[in-house]
Amino acid sequence: MILFAKNPSVFGKRVSDLILNNIRTVVTGTQQKKKDSQKKDDKKNVAASLKKKFNLSKIKNLLNNKQTSLSLTKYNVGKVVKLKDGVATIEYLNIAKAGELIRFLPSYIPGMVISLEKKETLAILFGNDREVRVGDRVHCTGNIVSVAVGRGLLGRVVDPLGNPLDRKGSINLDGQPYDDLYRGYYLGEMRYGYIRPVETAAPGIIARKSVRKPLITGINCIDSMVPIGKGQRELIIGDRQIGKTALGIDLIINQAFINETIRHYVQFGGNKEAILNNKNASQEPCYCVYVGVGQKQSTIARIVKILSKSRHLYERRFIKSKVRPVSFKPINYAIIVSSTASDAAPLQFLAPYSGSTIAEFFRDSGSHAVIIYDDLSKQAVAYRQMSLLLRRPPGREAYPGDVFYLHSRLLERAAQLSDKLGGGSLTALPVIETQASDVSAYIATNVISITDGQIFLESELFYQGVRPAINVGLSVSRVGSAAQFKAMKQVAGTLKLELAQYREVVKYVKFGASLDSNTQRQLHRGARLVELLKQPQFNPLDISVQIIFLHLGLGGYLDLEEVDKVSSVQQKCLKFYKNLYKSSKTAISVLEEKGVVDESFKEAFNFDILRYKF
Ligand SMILES: Nc1ncnc2c1ncn2[C@@H]1O[C@H](COP(=O)(O)OP(=O)(O)OP(=O)(O)O)[C@@H](O)[C@H]1O
Ligand SMILES: [Mg+2]
Repeated sequence: MILFAKNPSVFGKRVSDLILNNIRTVVTGTQQKKKDSQKKDDKKNVAASLKKKFNLSKIKNLLNNKQTSLSLTKYNVGKVVKLKDGVATIEYLNIAKAGELIRFLPSYIPGMVISLEKKETLAILFGNDREVRVGDRVHCTGNIVSVAVGRGLLGRVVDPLGNPLDRKGSINLDGQPYDDLYRGYYLGEMRYGYIRPVETAAPGIIARKSVRKPLITGINCIDSMVPIGKGQRELIIGDRQIGKTALGIDLIINQAFINETIRHYVQFGGNKEAILNNKNASQEPCYCVYVGVGQKQSTIARIVKILSKSRHLYERRFIKSKVRPVSFKPINYAIIVSSTASDAAPLQFLAPYSGSTIAEFFRDSGSHAVIIYDDLSKQAVAYRQMSLLLRRPPGREAYPGDVFYLHSRLLERAAQLSDKLGGGSLTALPVIETQASDVSAYIATNVISITDGQIFLESELFYQGVRPAINVGLSVSRVGSAAQFKAMKQVAGTLKLELAQYREVVKYVKFGASLDSNTQRQLHRGARLVELLKQPQFNPLDISVQIIFLHLGLGGYLDLEEVDKVSSVQQKCLKFYKNLYKSSKTAISVLEEKGVVDESFKEAFNFDILRYKF
């Protein structure tokens, strides 16, 4: 006030400025309001036009909806909130796919997404669950669980995720086992290896062809009475410790001999007469995959050792060739997928599927493959354990409801493909272990109904010394006889009947009944036939030799021999044909040239017996 009183002009100026400014703000304020309202109108117009154009309300809803991928991209890393016996409950893993491979961090243990629920994801661990803790991170890989497939797996032992378990270094998918002379073991079409999902769909009806080619196991009893065709599914069923695995190993060794004969011809032009002029020879190689499920580590080690033992084509016969064949290892024609009893249940569940995927590589490249699942009852047990932990409702014998589907989708993948798809084949030989020969158990009946026949092993026979202990009456092959070699079909036609009659008569002998001459003849012959069909382990027989043996028994040539002399007669016979194969005309050469058992074969056989008296 004193200042204003002293200098009234200043006061007057200030007042006038204030008034002016106020007037200005009032004016500009009204202008601004006008502008704002205009802008709002503009916005409204634009929004209305956009709404008309794009249906904005829908977009708004979509953005607010939590299930859209836009708002969920941040959730591909989850957190373990619960962990129990190899099953992990994971939160925040909302974009995982069913069957996707995930990794637990920091342990880097792989797992597979099994169940997708509203808030959480359930996954199984393919490794030691002690290395994973609650709170660990989990990240999606974006891939369905897959294994690497290719010819480079031949000769290797791998786990169900395709990691090598032998000490031969990392796997080169497009390499293959070479021996000392640098001869490659794989003979089929040279396709590159690739990564293939473990669970794939089975080929459909159009993609298939009926089973037409025989798969020779080298076991006389099977090849004559329960023949297996390429693309077939044949079950091996029996109690524990009665030679189920032994059948599979013999088959692998036999295929190795056949493959080696073909390789010897393809790479050196040698061995021609054993391939081209032989009506009883397989012309195409067949690779084997052995899947051990829940086996002891020592069993797998024993199998690897047996298959790695050097074998020689001379063990079968001498070969007319300038190039002498050298030894070979049967394992180089086989792949072993191993999941042992100490592995986590999910790994045991996965092993047959990855084995099948590995074998499908050969099927799809136009080659042939045979896969042995040893054994599927252990896979079913592992699956039951997994399912119960996943809180799926138990059904009969506490197995989950989809245990049939577990095996059917696996075995359906065995197929003989049509010519259009290359004509390759995958034969499946599942093994089932029974308790006290009870074939009516849940899993056993399931697998019997899925497969095209079964080879039934009986403990009583095994302990009587009839090995392989195949029960001929209960064993059947529903499709294989269409693929049997003609000569074998001819010679073995009466075998099953003779053995069935023998079994009937043996029962009466136990009661001490008096026998007529015809029954005595049946007994006499039957005892020799049973002796003839006994076969030691790891020595599968050539198909021509099998036919000769059967002819020896069914033609009555053994009737004059004592029962305990039968095997020595067989050995002499084998030795004779092995030595004489290359030099002169014998019953075997006649048989292989014509492919039938006719008069000329019988004559030649009689002549051989007269000459060499074995
Ligand atoms: N043809 C045979 N001749 C002589 N011995 C045999 C024959 N086949 C199998 N064996 C013997 O029988 C035993 C059991 O064989 P193998 O291991 O193949 O049976 P398995 O049914 O697979 O047993 P597991 O139930 O343990 O898997 C082995 O010691 C084997 O040497
Ligand atoms: Mg076994």
